[in-house]
Formats: sequence, structure tokens, C-alpha cells
Amino acid sequence: MSRHFFLFLSKNKALNKSAKKWGLRLGAAKVVAGVTIDEVMQSIQQLNEQGLKATIDHLGEFVTEREEAENAGSACLDILEAIKRNNIDSHVSVKLTKLGLDISRELCMENMRSILDVAKTNGNFINIDMEDYAHYHETLDILLELRQKYDNVGTVMQSYLRSGLDDLDPLQGIPLRIVKGAYQEDAAVAYQDKEDIDANFLCMVEKHLRNGGHTAIATHDHTIIEAVQTFTRENNIPTEQFEFQMLYGFRQELQHQLADEGYTFRTYVPFGQDWYGYFMRRLAERPQNIVFAVRGMISK
Ligand code: FDA
Repeated sequence: MSRHFFLFLSKNKALNKSAKKWGLRLGAAKVVAGVTIDEVMQSIQQLNEQGLKATIDHLGEFVTEREEAENAGSACLDILEAIKRNNIDSHVSVKLTKLGLDISRELCMENMRSILDVAKTNGNFINIDMEDYAHYHETLDILLELRQKYDNVGTVMQSYLRSGLDDLDPLQGIPLRIVKGAYQEDAAVAYQDKEDIDANFLCMVEKHLRNGGHTAIATHDHTIIEAVQTFTRENNIPTEQFEFQMLYGFRQELQHQLADEGYTFRTYVPFGQDWYGYFMRRLAERPQNIVFAVRGMISK
């Protein structure tokens, strides 16, 4: 089963709808930290106790109903409130299409402004996940508009995009998470070979670090992590200027190792009923994940 097959499945609306009723099936519980806010708070408390920081993602994307987008905005406010109440060390990651971007930019902006106001009061940080290329330029445009008022917001840049390196220019000084990119994109806009994507990843990390921007290196790829460790050491980049990030449930040993070595480490912790698209993208990235998906199916 190929990457394309799972990326195709990830967009299947009927399966996505049914999956919300299934609970965390198909092994999703290994990579999704529960369905409720209480469950995710407990998972993060455990991570914090082990020296790992977090960023919470309330799963869901490509929302087309106004009410759903408004509910998504309120859910983010509830999450910020729960982070404060439970005194946990966690940022929040959001997707603009969950907050209504496909319905209207104004609705999405209203949601973002309410979230950022509360986050600022609570001393928290909001990271805008990067979605597919169809939403890329508008996401960057919205980020730049929000940054005129808020300094507690950043975004994600994808190294599979051919323009990724140049697109960093207007983002100097903005906290960025660098990733390889998780969507299926046309060869006209995105590198298709791992070698090119990896090389661009390192160039983007080095450029943003050299420009003084806070950089989150978000990958499970030990070769890239080692290259970044060497670069930061040789160029005297202060450890406060960068952090490593990985997804919940992936390479836990390496997550702890990096934290134990004194690097800031942040785990991306997704939760919620809308796990289907996220889970399919994880299967697309790494066929070995199928092993625990199949085990999950059998045990249900
Ligand atoms: P990749 O999957 O290319 O793996 C490279 C090598 O690393 C493998 O060959 C293997 O040697 C090793 N490896 C990888 N996984 C392993 C495992 N589980 N166990 C053992 N070895 C393993 N994408 C996006 O488009 N927008 C976004 O906003 C985000 N946000 C985001 C946040 C965070 C914290 C992370 C970690 C990732 C994202 N992504 C993302 C997803 C990202 O774009 C990418 O699809 C995945 O991270 C997979 O790529 P990797 O960099 O992990 O390496």
C-alpha cells in the first residue's frame, strides 16, 4: 500500500464522518492522546513530568459549516483555559481551515483574534499548522496580518515546497516550525525526492537560525537532527533559539534522549474525535505504522 493510497484515503469525507463515531480505532490511540480535553491534559501532565513540553492540536480540518468553525474557536478557548487551570506546559497548534478559512477569511480571523487575545493574557503561544498548498499563500498572508498586532503567533514552513527557502524572507524574526510536509502536492510546486526535501529542510533551518528567528526542528529523522546539532554547535547558536519537536507516540526514546541531553523538546499532541485524516497521513508517511494499525483492528 503506497503513500498515495493513504493520502487519497485521508481525503475521503464518508470515511472521515464514520470514523468520528468509531472512537480511536485502527490503532489511532497510539498516536492520538484521547478524545476529551481531560484525557489530553492527563497525557500532557505525564509528558511534562518527564521533561517534555507540548503543543496541543484539537484534531479537525477543512470545515465547511459556520457553526462547526465557531465551535472549533470555542474549543480552542476551552483548551487555553484548561492549560492554565492545570498549570501544564503546552502551546496550542491550530489549523485555519478548522477555524473557518474555507467559509470566510473574516470568520477565521475573528476566531484567531479571540484565541490570540486569550493566549496573550495567559502568556501562551499559538502555532498555525501549515496545510495543503491550496491554503499556503493565504495562511502566510494571515500570519503576517496577525503579527502586526500579536507577537505570540507563528507558523510552519514545509521543505518539500520549492519556494520554501525564498519564502522565509518576509518571515524573519517570526517563530517557525520547519517540517518536510505531509500533503500530496504537484511536482511543479513541491520536490518529490527525499534527498531534495531533506537538503532543503537543512537549508531552511540554517537560514532561519542565522537570521535570528526561533526555530522548531520538527522531524523524526535522526540524520537531520544530528546535522542540526552539529550546525548549532559549530555556529554557537544559543539553545534557547531552537527546539526539537516530534509527534505524540513516535520515537519516544529519541524524544527523551534529546530532552535528557538538555535540548528543549516539544511533543505535538493531537486529540479529539476527528482523528481520521491525521491518522491516514501518518500511515502514508511510514508504512511500518500499519503494523500497529492492523493490531488495533484485530483487538477491537
Ligand atoms: P521521514 O518520514 O522522511 O523519515 C525519515 C527517516 O527518519 C526514516 O527513513 C527513518 O529512518 C526515520 N524515522 C521516521 N519515523 C520514524 C519512526 N517512527 N521510528 C523510527 N525511525 C523513524 N506537516 C505539515 O505539512 N504541516 C504541519 O503543520 C506539520 N506539523 C508537524 C509538527 C510536528 C511536531 C512534526 C514532527 C511533523 C509535522 N508535520 C507537518 C509532518 C511532517 O511534514 C512530516 O510529514 C512528518 O514529520 C514525517 O517526516 P519526518 O521528518 O519525520 O521524516
